[in-house]
Amino acid sequence: ADPDSLQDFCVADLSASISVNGFPCKPASEVTSDDFFFDGLTKVGDTSNIFGSNVTGGNVLTFPALNTLGISMNRVDFAPGGVNPPHSHPRATESGVIIKGKLLVGFVTTGNVYHSKVLTAGQMFVIPRGLVHFQKNVGVGKALTIAAFNSQLPGAVVLPFTLFASTPSIPDDVLTRAFQVEEKVVKSIKSKFSS
Ligand code: GLV
Ligand code: MN
Repeated sequence: ADPDSLQDFCVADLSASISVNGFPCKPASEVTSDDFFFDGLTKVGDTSNIFGSNVTGGNVLTFPALNTLGISMNRVDFAPGGVNPPHSHPRATESGVIIKGKLLVGFVTTGNVYHSKVLTAGQMFVIPRGLVHFQKNVGVGKALTIAAFNSQLPGAVVLPFTLFASTPSIPDDVLTRAFQVEEKVVKSIKSKFSS
């Protein structure tokens, strides 16, 4: 979903003081082979959190050589029962492959049709751009998936945080009306996500 590149590469200078759509290139004379390799997805993510999952990003912010190339990847680790909560990526379609374990993968269309399947190692899924989706570890042990995106920085709108943990907060009366619950329910959900 990102624009086409006009050159072979443009390794991001993340600390540049000018601001553009993406990042300016670091000078080609300073680029080395190391720029084009990234071992940030080799480590198991820490799943000891309220969701029991952890997303490790291999995007332009962690792997600057992806700048202008229109692709990125995530590693997602799951504890048994862990959930990668409902979220969407405003700038990318996502396709993933299960590396380990057993994952329920689901998404909902703009027509509110739910599509889902339980997948095991080697099986793939696709989440069309912008649609709300999740994964849940339904196996006995840990699970692992690698997801690929057609954007250097797909962005993630993580619904629990977007709706109940924004800064400043969405007013309670908006959420009580939207979800047809009492204010105490909204306050209770908000309290789970406030740090
Ligand atoms: C999984 O859905 C991910 O966005 O990494
Ligand atoms: Mn996703």
